[in-house]
Amino acid sequence: MTGNEIRRKFLEYFERNGHKIVHSSPLLPANDPTLLFTNAGMNQFKDVFTGVEKRDYNRAVSSQKCIRAGGKHNDLDEVGKTARHHTFFEMLGNFSFGDYFKEDAIRFAWDFLVNELKLEESRLWFSVFEGDAEVPADDEARALWEKVGAKPERILGFGRKDNFWQMGDTGPCGPCSEIHYYMGEEPDNPEKNHPKWVNGEGDTTMEIWNLVFMQFERSEVEKGVFELKPLPAPSVDTGAGLERMTAVLQGVKTNYDTDLLMPIVEFSAQLSQKNES
Ligand code: GLY
Repeated sequence: MTGNEIRRKFLEYFERNGHKIVHSSPLLPANDPTLLFTNAGMNQFKDVFTGVEKRDYNRAVSSQKCIRAGGKHNDLDEVGKTARHHTFFEMLGNFSFGDYFKEDAIRFAWDFLVNELKLEESRLWFSVFEGDAEVPADDEARALWEKVGAKPERILGFGRKDNFWQMGDTGPCGPCSEIHYYMGEEPDNPEKNHPKWVNGEGDTTMEIWNLVFMQFERSEVEKGVFELKPLPAPSVDTGAGLERMTAVLQGVKTNYDTDLLMPIVEFSAQLSQKNES
């Protein structure tokens, strides 16, 4: 499948499941002084999550153009060091605004990856929030992954850095559950396809999808003092890198080798006459 076909497959899968296809919003967010660049699919829905804005749909799907080159989500320092960071990317995402919550978000993600894209289950790892002093461990997400078919030993707990998502210092946020893909050889060899690689060094595993269970809004009540309040209705925000998903499905080792980015690399090489790889 080409990258374009993967994007279309994602949008059509969620449209079949009651989601409204919404266009990508501009890279420069309108009316949001907290962000320089759009850094996630949920940005354009921020006020819908908090209940300030109402739309005539409560499920949406998009492929959002994003830049992560500063602020809370900064990929800039990783470019050139990993196979999967490039600051500008497209984020595939499905959203529920007070409609479905964890159970359906997890069921859709499993169904899309395993039944639609036919990814090998033995390459998939799942992470859940392990809890801290502010928010308890997400045992519910763990149980729901098991319910859809994930093996218990492939569901790992991580802390706030990896499994609690917020777009910036303030805004809607919540615990999240990520899906990681083993990129290496011999997926059935537990010595190689080992949990230590999930959120570990290098590119042996790659996060391909993040399911955020939006439950809270973080606001600054006075300078430097933040408060976490429940959202009017629990909601869902997900983000899957189109270029990462494409690398997995095209069986290449880096996002740059996909048909989404390689033509740009080749054209630049031609222009600069530096085409030795
Ligand atoms: N908003 C979900 C993510 O960026 O991972």
